[in-house]
Amino acid sequence: MKQRIYITRKISNEIVEWLKQFVDVKMWMEEETPVPRAILQKEIREVDGLYCLLTEQVDRELINQANNLKVISNMAVGYNNIDIEYAAKKGIAVTNTPGVLTETTADLTFSLLMATARRLGEAEQFLREGKWTTWSPMLLTGQDIYGTTLGIIGLGRIGEAVARRAKGFGMKIIYYNRNRKPNVERELNLTYYPFEELLKTADYICILTPFTDETKNLIDEREFKLMKPNTILINTSRGGIVNEEALYKALSKNQIWGAGLDVFDEEPISADHPLLSLKNVVVTPHIGSASIQTRMRMAKLAAENLISVLQKKQCSFIVN
Ligand code: GLV
Repeated sequence: MKQRIYITRKISNEIVEWLKQFVDVKMWMEEETPVPRAILQKEIREVDGLYCLLTEQVDRELINQANNLKVISNMAVGYNNIDIEYAAKKGIAVTNTPGVLTETTADLTFSLLMATARRLGEAEQFLREGKWTTWSPMLLTGQDIYGTTLGIIGLGRIGEAVARRAKGFGMKIIYYNRNRKPNVERELNLTYYPFEELLKTADYICILTPFTDETKNLIDEREFKLMKPNTILINTSRGGIVNEEALYKALSKNQIWGAGLDVFDEEPISADHPLLSLKNVVVTPHIGSASIQTRMRMAKLAAENLISVLQKKQCSFIVN
C-alpha cells in the first residue's frame, strides 16, 4: 500500500501528478483560503507526510494528533510556523525550500527599498487621484540611493544577494550577523559593524535574519532611537522581528524616514491597521518569493523533500 500525504493548499496539477507516482495524495482544494484548523487536525491523523505552507501553525498540539507522520515539508524557507524541536522529539523530519527563492526575494527587497526611497506608492496614488497639475521642483522628492550606506542585518543567502544588488547601485555596504563572514566581506567589499553601530550609521536597513526567540522584537523602541532621521527600514523576513508599535511611533514622529514592509506581525494585516494610515510606508502582502518561476521551484522542491524523506533517501533540506 502506498504511503499517504496531505497537502494543505491547492497546488499545481503537475506537482500533484508527480507526487502521485509515489504516494496517495489528499489535498485541501482551495487556492486562496487556508485549510481550517479542525480539518487539518483530522487529516493529519493517519498521513505519513504533510506538505504545508507558512499559513499553517504546526505546533505541539497539531503534531500530537499525528499517528504516522514522518515528514513535514514546508513550502517556504522560513519555518517559524513549525515547532521543529518537538517534531524532532517525535522523530518527524521538517524540511524547507532554501536557495531556489534567494534571488527573487532579494529582488523584492531591493524593489521595496527603491519604492520607499522614491515614494512610488504615494506618487502613483497622487497621479491616479488627478492631483498632478504641473512639474514642480520639490514634488514628491525622496532619498538618493547612490552613494548611501546599506546596513544588512542577517547575512545569509538572501542578505548576500541583496548586497550584490546594492553594489551595482553604488552603495557602501555594512552588515551585522551572528558570525562574521570574512570571505563574503572580501568578495563583496562589505564591512562588519556591531549591531548598534550599524543602526547609527546605515541610511537603509534591511532585515534579513530568520525569526527566532532571539530575533523577536530585535528592532524595538531603543533601536529606532539609535537610527538617523533619514533611515529607511526594509523588512522582507518576518513581521515579529520588528516591534510594530515602536515602528509606528518612529514613523509617525519622523524619527526615521520611511519603511518598506512585506511582512507583518499578523498576516493578513487588517486594512485599518495604524501603519497603513502612514504615507511614509510602502507595503506588499508577503510576496518576497512570488515570481511564477520561483513559486514553481519552491513547490517542486517541497514535493521532492517530502518524497526523499519518505523513501529514506538523502535530503539536504532537513532543518531539525
Ligand atoms: C517566505 O516567507 C518564506 O519563508 O519562504
